[in-house]
Amino acid sequence: MSLKKEIARRKTFGIISHPDAGKTTLTEKLLLFGGAIQVAGAVKSNKIKKTTVSDFMEIEKQRGISVATSVMAFEYRDLKINILDTPGHQDFAEDTYRTLTAVDSAIVVIDVAKGVEPQTEKLVNVCRMRDTPIIIFINKLDREGKDPFVLLDEIEQKLGITVSPLSWPVGMGRIFKGVYSMYEQKLVLFRPHGKQKEEDTIEFNDLSDPALEKHLGEKPAATLREELEMVHGVYPDFDKDAYLKGQQSPVFFGSAINNFGVREMLDCFVDIAPVPRPRPAEERMVAPDEEGFTGFVFKIHANIDPRHRARIAFLRICSGTFERNKPYLHVRLGQQLRFANPTSFMADKKEVIDEAYPGDVVGLHDTGNFKIGDTLTEGEVLHFKGIPNFSPEQFRYVENADPMKSKQLAKGLEQLMDEGVAQLFTKESNGRKIIGTVGALQFDVIQYRLQHEYGASCRYEPTNLHKACWITSKDPAALKEFIARRAKDLARDTHGNLVYLAESAWSLKMAQDNHPDVEFHFTSEMNGVRRRE
Ligand code: G4P
Repeated sequence: MSLKKEIARRKTFGIISHPDAGKTTLTEKLLLFGGAIQVAGAVKSNKIKKTTVSDFMEIEKQRGISVATSVMAFEYRDLKINILDTPGHQDFAEDTYRTLTAVDSAIVVIDVAKGVEPQTEKLVNVCRMRDTPIIIFINKLDREGKDPFVLLDEIEQKLGITVSPLSWPVGMGRIFKGVYSMYEQKLVLFRPHGKQKEEDTIEFNDLSDPALEKHLGEKPAATLREELEMVHGVYPDFDKDAYLKGQQSPVFFGSAINNFGVREMLDCFVDIAPVPRPRPAEERMVAPDEEGFTGFVFKIHANIDPRHRARIAFLRICSGTFERNKPYLHVRLGQQLRFANPTSFMADKKEVIDEAYPGDVVGLHDTGNFKIGDTLTEGEVLHFKGIPNFSPEQFRYVENADPMKSKQLAKGLEQLMDEGVAQLFTKESNGRKIIGTVGALQFDVIQYRLQHEYGASCRYEPTNLHKACWITSKDPAALKEFIARRAKDLARDTHGNLVYLAESAWSLKMAQDNHPDVEFHFTSEMNGVRRRE
């Protein structure tokens, strides 16, 4: 098959949600449709219900053994669909943010009763930074929830996206009767426990047809007609271009656990979701159908079993054909590397592959060569954009608790930072090191891993910080003045970028007001900021 054909049959996406909205359940149903798994229950939830570090480490150990669950590929309607899994625990949101840089589109799952939750909001914001096309699946219609109009309002307000419903529920909870698919002009009747039959899906082009009463009963039929009229009046028609530009999101209603409304959404996804698209590198745009292979590392998964130290770097292929054993340029190191055992992921199994194409994700065994954001090419010097570091929200000083093990500590910290577990800042004034994370659980994880994997021990000390932001300025004099005046609040990240550590929202605002020619960035692109400094 030609490269163009391989690209045209690939759809790479991520499913995102606030924990408990139904991401795992939906993933499993999609894999069942694709025949990638045979039985329900095969997809393990990566959710961490208890938040003690030992529970987390136990789950990580299991995941380390079966990293296959990080990417799940399946075939559907002659397409190769890659689902990139994202961690369920919000303390690991940064991992999710980065995974989203490797997808071409996303499905957002929202619990009909809970509506838009904080994690949904954060994750959708990340999608919007890259204009990632989003499909919304409103889940758990078998339970009582918010009125659909109220919910869609909330989605538009909180997520800042325009919605276009492509299906509409008939009742919900105890009186849930099914959905009407505007996309396919079909009425799909609900049977609990996933016992849908073929005759439950009825072609229905003309809603004024009295047969609607026959299927739904008088009142629900009248309500559906009324509501659909309102839907047409209130929401724009679906516009594929607007969806592909990330400006409009189609909405589906269903119940993942009952496997209801899932196929309708999948069929629409397959029709409209984007195939791998050109990606911006700092040097130029890279088109997927270019001959030359390019790709970048968006995730590194450590095998935390100390007997098998090797890590797996997840490479998203952006252009050309990736081939096993062919030498590729590791741009940051300026070295040629070849990979004897690149793996692909097919649901529950991992396989060595000979070739992979744009949109695919390949697992590369790594002994410490990779950092998140690294690029591989056939020789060209390229840096892919859009793999950001996010401004952390929690900070602690990290100190060496065992003077005999300072080398181990330095190495452990360096490798954990390469994996993107947290961010390390070194204060300019006194060289003290500060760890910044998105969630509190990471501190325990870092301490545990330093001890168990590197034999190092660390101690934390509190620090009162509100935010870390990356600093640049087009005006060298303004930057110099800022550096002089804020010397005690400055640090460097592991890439050497200048970072301002604000003690409070107020001091951040003061700094911004007093230094109008200095730019404060709340995300840094791993390869990017330094060049702009
Ligand atoms: P997550 O990955 O987004 O965190 O959510 P997950 O799929 O694990 O689902 C969270 C809970 O919601 C699970 O129940 C799951 O069974 C339930 N759920 C998912 N889809 C639906 C649905 O359409 N309707 C209803 N009523 N429930 C749904 P749990 O009790 O937390 O776990 P489990 O013991 O059932 O696995």
